Amino acid sequence: MPDQKQVTFTLNGQKVTTPAGTLVLEAAKHQGIEVPSFCYYPGLSLQAACRMCLVEVEKAPKLQTACTLVAVDGMVVKTDTEQVHKARKDMIEFLLSNHPLDCPVCDKGGECELQDMTFRYGLDHSRFTEEKLHYPEEKWSPLVFYDAPRCILCFRCVRVCDEGMDVKALGVGARGVHSVILPNEKGALACEECGMCIDICPVGALTSGTYRYQTRPWEMKYEPVPCTHCSNGCKTTLSVRNNEILRANNRDHSGINDEFLCAKGRFGFDFTHNPERIRQPLVRRSGKLEPASWEDALEEVSRRLKQVHATHGAAAIGVIGSNHTTNEENYLLNRFARATLGTNNIDHHRTADFTGLAAALGPRAKDSLATMADVYTSNATLLIANDVTQQNPLVAWQIRTAIRHHNARLYVINGRHSKIHRKASYLAEVAPGTERQAVRWLASGEGQLDEATRSALSALKAALEKESDVVIIFGADINGPALRELISFGSKLNGHTRFMALGDYANSRGAADMGVLPDRLPGYAAIADSAERARFSKLWGAEIPSTPGLTARAMMDAAASGKLKALYVVGANPVKTFDVKQPDRLAGLELFVVQDMFLTETALRADVVLPAASTYEKDGTLTNTSGEVQMTRRSIDPQGPRSDFDLIRILSHQLSMLGAGSPIRLRTPEAAFDEIRQNVRGYDLPVAGLLAGGAETSAASCQFVEPSYETPAGVVFSSNDFLFSSGTLGRYCSKLKSTNEAKETPWSSSPNIQSWWYR
Ligand code: SF4
Ligand code: SF4
Ligand code: SF4
Ligand code: FES
Repeated sequence: MPDQKQVTFTLNGQKVTTPAGTLVLEAAKHQGIEVPSFCYYPGLSLQAACRMCLVEVEKAPKLQTACTLVAVDGMVVKTDTEQVHKARKDMIEFLLSNHPLDCPVCDKGGECELQDMTFRYGLDHSRFTEEKLHYPEEKWSPLVFYDAPRCILCFRCVRVCDEGMDVKALGVGARGVHSVILPNEKGALACEECGMCIDICPVGALTSGTYRYQTRPWEMKYEPVPCTHCSNGCKTTLSVRNNEILRANNRDHSGINDEFLCAKGRFGFDFTHNPERIRQPLVRRSGKLEPASWEDALEEVSRRLKQVHATHGAAAIGVIGSNHTTNEENYLLNRFARATLGTNNIDHHRTADFTGLAAALGPRAKDSLATMADVYTSNATLLIANDVTQQNPLVAWQIRTAIRHHNARLYVINGRHSKIHRKASYLAEVAPGTERQAVRWLASGEGQLDEATRSALSALKAALEKESDVVIIFGADINGPALRELISFGSKLNGHTRFMALGDYANSRGAADMGVLPDRLPGYAAIADSAERARFSKLWGAEIPSTPGLTARAMMDAAASGKLKALYVVGANPVKTFDVKQPDRLAGLELFVVQDMFLTETALRADVVLPAASTYEKDGTLTNTSGEVQMTRRSIDPQGPRSDFDLIRILSHQLSMLGAGSPIRLRTPEAAFDEIRQNVRGYDLPVAGLLAGGAETSAASCQFVEPSYETPAGVVFSSNDFLFSSGTLGRYCSKLKSTNEAKETPWSSSPNIQSWWYR
C-alpha cells in the first residue's frame, strides 16, 4: 500500500505536498494541471514510450518524462514553458509522420487523445515529406479490428492484456517505423474478447466490431446502467442513437468496476434488437400460440387465474420469478403472489445461498460481507469452488489487480480448472465436486479426502492462518452445512474476515433480498415470523398465508402431479433450468403464463406469453452479488413489450376487479423503491448517490435470518455460464456468439481453446 510520508515540491511556481512515491504527472493532475500523456495509464506498468509528458526540471540537463518521474522534496518542475510546448509539438509531429490523418472516417474522431493534442498544440503542417507506409486494416476477431497506420505504439493494449487481463494475447512485431502490434495467433486473436485493448487505445487503431463505422460520438446519448449479465454489477455506459444501442463501455471509468468490462458487458447488448424478440402477446388457441392484443391476453390471464383461484384455491397457483428483473419488479411479484393471489408458492432459480450466508453470519453480517472494493484492498483472498475468470470476471479482475498492485495473496480450493489458478500463492486442486469436503476438512479436520488433497489443504491452511483481513469468496456449491462450516473456519482467521457468495446473474442477489423465496418476505423476514407477516400484510392490504410455499423445483414437480393448476413465470426458463424434458410434465396445468423477451423452452409451452422489456428498457434498481445496489434506467424504448413492473401491476388490478386479491397501487418503480427503502431491511439507502450513478451497499439486508435456518439441499445450484454465455440472454447476443471462443466452451476438448485458455 502507498507510503504515507509526504514530500513537498514546486510545480509551476506553487508549493505542492503529495505522498512520497507520487509521479509528477499524477501530482500535477491532482492540482488540475494537465500533462499530456499517451502511453501512461494509471495502474499499468510505466512505459515512457510516447515522450508527450516531457516537463522541465530545475538542474536536470534535459526534459524529463513526468510519467516516470517521482516527486521528491525540493524538486522544481515546470509543465508549461516554451521549451516544453515545443517538445510536445515536435512529438506530435513525429507521431503523425506515418499517420493517415483519416479523422473524418475514424471511429475515434471526436474522442481521440491524439486528435485533441494535435488541436491543442496547433499542429497544422508537417516537415515529413516521405511517402507514408500503408498496412491494410486487420480483422483479428469479429469484435477486434486493428489499423496499424493509426497506431502510435503506446503499448497500452499490450500491457492491459498482459498485466490487467493476464491473457497476453498481444505483442509487438518488427522494428522502428515498421513496428506493429501483433495478436498471439497469426493474424487472429484467441483471447477473452474483453475489448479492454480497444477501450484503452488512445487513438483509433483498435476498433470494435460492433461499433465501427456506425456513427459519431456526438450523435449518441449516453446512459449509465449496470450490466445485465453476470452478478458482478459492472457499471456500463450505453451509447444510444435512434433507439438502438450501438456501443457499451464504461465511458467515465467510474463505478465499482472502474475501467473494467468483460466481453458480455461490452459486446452483449444486441439481444435487445434480436429479430426473435417477442413484440406482441401470444395466446394459445387450438393448441397453437397466436398473436393477440394486450387487452385480450391480459384479460385471458386474469380471468383464468381467477377461475383456478376460485376452483382450486390459492395454494394451487405458483409463481417463479427472475434473476434478471429489477428489485422493484421482484418486490412487486412477491406482493402479487402473497397479497393478490394469496400464495407463498414463489421462488426463483437460486444461484447462491444468500439466506444461508445470513443465517451463518448472524449479527456480524452487517460488516462481514465483502464488496468488490474489499476484494481489491484485501491482503489475501480465499477462493472456493468457482471459476471466477469465466463466471465472475469482475471478481477475477479485482483479485488480479490486488495481486499486481499490492502483492495480495490468492488461496484457491477448486475442483475445476480456472485461469486464475496461475495467480495463486497456494492452490489445492481437489476432485470435482469435493470442495464441500475440503471445507469440512478446513473447519474440523474431518472429511473423506485423499492424502495428496489433505496435504495441499494443510499447506494452504497453515499459510492462510498467518494472513489477516482475508476475503473469502465461494461459489454455489458451498451452501447449507458447508457454508456454515466455511463461516466457522473463516471467522477464526486473524483480523476482519469478509465473505462473498457468488450468484450467477445481474439480480440474483436482489431476487433473494426482495423475498422471491417460498419461506422469506423481503429482507429475509421469515414467513413463520408472525410480527413480520403482520407488518407486510398491513402494508400490502391482505393477509399473507403463514405456511411456507413450494420451491421452484417442487412447483415443477407439482405441475407434473396435477397439484399445481396455474403457473406464472416471470423472466425465467424453469423448463430448461430444471431440465423438464417430457412435455406431459406440465400437462396438469390449467393455466401457464410466461413473461419473457424470447420464446424460450418455457415460453413455448405456455398458454399465454406476455412480451417483456429488457433491463435496458426500464427503470429500477439491481443488487449485485456483493449487495451493491445501482440504478438502471430506460435507455431505449422497448417497442412493443412492456416492463414486468407494469404487467404485474395491471394483472393485480384486473384480478382485484374480479374480486380476487388486493391491487398494487404503486404506479412507478420510483414509488416501489420508496416503499422498499422504508420497509425492506438494509435498503434504506441514500438516493442521491444512486441517482449520480454510484452504488450503495445494502449489506445490512441479510442479518435477520434465524441462526437455526438450514438451506434445503438441492435448491442452490449454478448454471455454470462462462465468458460467452449468459443464460437465455446469451443465446440472443449475436456478436458474442460470433467469436470462435464462444463457439466452444472452455470445458470442450478443443485443443485450440484448451491451449490458450488455461496456459
Ligand atoms: S480483447 Fe481483451 S483479451 Fe483480447 S487482446 Fe484485447 S485485451 Fe487482450
Ligand atoms: S493499438 Fe492503440 S493502444 Fe495499442 S499500441 Fe497502438 S495506439 Fe497504443
Ligand atoms: S463481469 Fe459481469 S457484470 Fe461485469 S461486464 Fe462482465 S458480465 Fe457484466
Ligand atoms: S506518457 Fe510519459 S512517455 Fe508517454
